[in-house]
Amino acid sequence: MQNVLEELGLLRIIPIVSIQNAIHTRPLAEALIKGGLPCAEITFRTEAALDAIHAVAEMQDLLVGAGTVLKVDQVKAAVDAGARFIVSPGFNPKVVDYCVKNEITVTPGVCTPTDIEMAMDFGLKVVKFFPAEAFGGLKTLKALSGPYHMMKFIPTGGVNIHNLREYLAFPKVFACGGSWMVKSELISAAKFAEITELTAEAVKVATQTG
Ligand code: 3PG
Repeated sequence: MQNVLEELGLLRIIPIVSIQNAIHTRPLAEALIKGGLPCAEITFRTEAALDAIHAVAEMQDLLVGAGTVLKVDQVKAAVDAGARFIVSPGFNPKVVDYCVKNEITVTPGVCTPTDIEMAMDFGLKVVKFFPAEAFGGLKTLKALSGPYHMMKFIPTGGVNIHNLREYLAFPKVFACGGSWMVKSELISAAKFAEITELTAEAVKVATQTG
């Protein structure tokens, strides 16, 4: 059986979702599956996050993780609800330490050499590069990949259908994260067919990029 990180690496795109109303969770998950991307990072930015993680975890045919995880308590709650991976915007040693000790897949955010070296100290090999575009995008990532050639990155923040191909083509990019195909306004307006369309478009780019 593949481990969670391997699954994410094969999918190559991680949709980042903020659910305002848990009622939208299942149709959203179905829209992602239909678009060819059976994965969702559900962020702790809304009250409905835990209920949403729970609802998706029950479906079993979608890899669900928790995003915007800022505290160890949120890791515990997310894992209890069925989250199979943890993503954080920054590098919080307490969160990472808890995940590593409990064998929970974690991809913390990094954007500087110091952050990356902290991640390496915990034995991590894959980290999120956030906020990717605001921190110089691919140019910065390429510069960081010189000394840290042993690391793989998940650029997130400003990634979209227009720059996805370029990011994925860089060998140190493990996968890309983004909300462009699952924007909150699309979810709230129940525009699930549009979500499927945008997802399928992203999957097509990922498939072409290899
Ligand atoms: C995140 O939670 O990692 C970012 O908000 C995603 O960035 P995006 O909305 O620009 O895709």
